[in-house]
Amino acid sequence: MGESSIIFQYCTGKMIYINVAVGLSILLLVIGLSVGLSVNTFKGRDALDSAPLIDGHNDLPYNFYHILSNNLSAFHFESDLRNDNVWGKNACSSCFTDLPRLNAGKVGGQFWVAYTPCESQYKDSVQLTLRQIDVIRRFIQRYPANLQLVTAAGDIETTWRNGKIASMIAIEGGHSLDSSLALLRLYYDLGVRYVTLTHTCNTPWADASIVDNGYVYNLTDFGKTVVYEMNRIGMLVDLSHVSHNVMREVLAITRAPVIFSHSSAFSVCKHYRNVPDDVLHLVKKNNGIVMVNFYSGFVNCNSSRNATLQDVVDHINHIRNLIGVNHVGIGGDYDGVSSMPMGLEDVSKYPDLFDRLYENREGEPTWTREDLEKLAGRNFIRVFQAVEAVRDSLSSESPREDVITGNELYIAQKKEGLKDPGACQTAKEWSNVNATSDAEEKTSGLKVSKIMELLGRNLIGMTHHHSVWTHVGGC
Ligand SMILES: *[C@@H]1O[C@H](CO)[C@@H](O)[C@H](O)[C@H]1NC(C)=O
Ligand SMILES: *[C@@H]1O[C@H](CO)[C@@H](O)[C@H](O)[C@H]1NC(C)=O
Ligand SMILES: *[C@@H]1O[C@H](CO)[C@@H](O)[C@H](O)[C@H]1NC(C)=O
Ligand SMILES: *[C@@H]1O[C@H](CO)[C@@H](O)[C@H](O)[C@H]1NC(C)=O
Ligand SMILES: *[C@@H]1O[C@H](CO)[C@@H](O)[C@H](O)[C@H]1NC(C)=O
Ligand SMILES: [Zn+2]
Repeated sequence: MGESSIIFQYCTGKMIYINVAVGLSILLLVIGLSVGLSVNTFKGRDALDSAPLIDGHNDLPYNFYHILSNNLSAFHFESDLRNDNVWGKNACSSCFTDLPRLNAGKVGGQFWVAYTPCESQYKDSVQLTLRQIDVIRRFIQRYPANLQLVTAAGDIETTWRNGKIASMIAIEGGHSLDSSLALLRLYYDLGVRYVTLTHTCNTPWADASIVDNGYVYNLTDFGKTVVYEMNRIGMLVDLSHVSHNVMREVLAITRAPVIFSHSSAFSVCKHYRNVPDDVLHLVKKNNGIVMVNFYSGFVNCNSSRNATLQDVVDHINHIRNLIGVNHVGIGGDYDGVSSMPMGLEDVSKYPDLFDRLYENREGEPTWTREDLEKLAGRNFIRVFQAVEAVRDSLSSESPREDVITGNELYIAQKKEGLKDPGACQTAKEWSNVNATSDAEEKTSGLKVSKIMELLGRNLIGMTHHHSVWTHVGGC
């Protein structure tokens, strides 16, 4: 039907001649196509059939929390939610994910992020993090035909070959650890495989990308211990969100490769969330990976135009040109931000990016199928395997038993602007806060002992067996 019947209607006199002509051209077209197929019909997206596309960062679980209070019965993952009146783009500016679009996007592996906002730091961050780990685990269990929990590098590819999205759990923000190595280890036991050392707030042991005025933690001794313990247990260290100096400090001491789960290139767009060139060189030396973030605000610094897919291409190519194709990956940040570039509007669009890279335009590096497979997922799998190998090589090391000092906690809470540091804490470290601290005196001009006196606290009382904080107001 269609074209040939129109010809038949309007050209009855030459009907036979035309039908023969149409028939011949179709025949030639079919021959042409099959010859073409055997020569080169490879498109960049086809690399996603021979290697899993692994995205380093998706915040859908946070949307479960703030939209549904984690009631998954009310979420229709299997439906196309593009125009949904809760999850559609007109209703929710940070909603980009559902199963049909993940499938169209050829996603083979995904880190689902257990994120809790910085406001929870020193309060209920641990409880909120545990709730997010629980909702991710329930989400994965709810769709056994489509998702499978993966906690080992070797299971990513087999899960993907079985037609399921290899679903991994991440924690975004060291505040979820509450400065405790015990929590770090238990999160690992619950299936978490990377921890981003900070979100947008400093922790008592590492600076976030926006370093507070005046006081720099960098990576403290306790922070180094956190990294060493992550290396020992096989938890990937994620350096997205930390300050540029913390990136440098961690790369100087880590015993395993690191990841940036969702960060782009600073020299392409000078946003502090992006990775500067000197750090990219260190990532190459470390055998790590930068998984490129798509967020419009990180990939395009020109406010007089909108971000496009081309901007993401530029970031990927910059990293590749500088440190090679083995150290770049994908970390879209879908559902964690409210603006995505034109051409990468939701999780269905990854294949377009791979097609575009394979156009191999003038002035751009040449992408082979193998290169695209590395970008998609093979680089990440290599890093994950290397982290597991370091874990195995350290199996004779004992768990670290370090506890952060009360002073560090006290100063950190002051810096975060808590009026009443320690007011809500009963842990025994708080009974060891020293009477003076250089850093504290420098910034506030007050001795800790003086502040405590003003707060109505008695330093001698603090060493008493029972917590002395509870009788003080404010909690
Ligand atoms: C969860 O959502 C479902 C579907 O909308 C609803 O029927 C149910 O009452 C909700 N459960 C809770 C505890 O809110
Ligand atoms: C912070 O770390 C950077 C990079 O390692 C280092 O150059 C700098 O001196 C450190 N600053 C402080 C205050 O420790
Ligand atoms: C920013 O975008 C505008 C509009 O596309 C363009 O004219 C201008 O040259 C760009 N500026 C820079 C610094 O790239
Ligand atoms: C950017 O995109 C928005 C939304 O699609 C549109 O309204 C606006 O005109 C665009 N701005 C520019 C400078 O193209
Ligand atoms: C208290 O200060 C002293 C002297 O600076 C130091 O040796 C000690 O480790 C500090 N104690 C704590 C708990 O930070
Ligand atoms: Zn983030």
